[in-house]
Amino acid sequence: MSNKSLPIGFFDSGLGGVSVLAEAAGILPHESLIYLGDNAHNPYGTKDVADVKRYSLQAIDFLVHKGIKALVVACNTATSAAINDIRKILDMPVIGMEPALKPAVEKMDQGKIVVMATPVTLREKKFHTLLNQYGENRDVTLLPCPGLVELIERGIYYGPLVQEYLRNVFGGMETGNISSVVLGCTHYLFIKKELQKLFPLVEIIDGNQGTVKNLQRILHEKDLLADGKRKDRTITYFSSGEPEPFLPLCKELFQYYMKNNFKQA
Ligand code: DGL
Repeated sequence: MSNKSLPIGFFDSGLGGVSVLAEAAGILPHESLIYLGDNAHNPYGTKDVADVKRYSLQAIDFLVHKGIKALVVACNTATSAAINDIRKILDMPVIGMEPALKPAVEKMDQGKIVVMATPVTLREKKFHTLLNQYGENRDVTLLPCPGLVELIERGIYYGPLVQEYLRNVFGGMETGNISSVVLGCTHYLFIKKELQKLFPLVEIIDGNQGTVKNLQRILHEKDLLADGKRKDRTITYFSSGEPEPFLPLCKELFQYYMKNNFKQA
């Protein structure tokens, strides 16, 4: 098999990276994709960075042994904790994620920008470098959301419990002047509708499309894009922990994302 027809590997601490997987499935319809949800160690975002790094390295080891041509770290938390180490080890394109602060700053020239992400992402140096670069002279509020990933992992991504969580987490904040909310965790893409209900006029921004376009550009530059006539691509899911109900939820969320973003089921 030529390198071009090998799959692209994706991993996250659990279900969140399925949003990136689905974005890639929509934009790159000829690519085979392999997904690993490290649900045995979920959540990453409230753990020690050293642990997140260790789990991330185990996850990529699993994917590399499956035979992949590129890796997407479909997790902002793992990217901030481990991307430098991963790039040192792997001899293939490695695409990471970061909260879409730059697009938010470019899109909205006034108002408060709220960045929702995990405590680890918001604490780590990588995000503070981004904040210094793009957040200067802007009203940027960091909103760590411990507990939200756990809710989504239970399959709760809509309905009253999510509304209650969001009302609480935004509870202490002046919200009238928010112009945009950045979803800085791949899990949060799935609660976008509930967030939009709470803030109908606010722009909600994420980095999924930017990440996949970046992946596409890099594969093109390295001559690694799959044959454009290919009809037999596959999408395969793995979990590091209990497969039930995790794997069925992966498929449910994949369909949900496709329906909402690519107008197809
Ligand atoms: N989905 C991950 C992210 O993008 C983190 C989830 C977790 O806390 O495990 O940050």
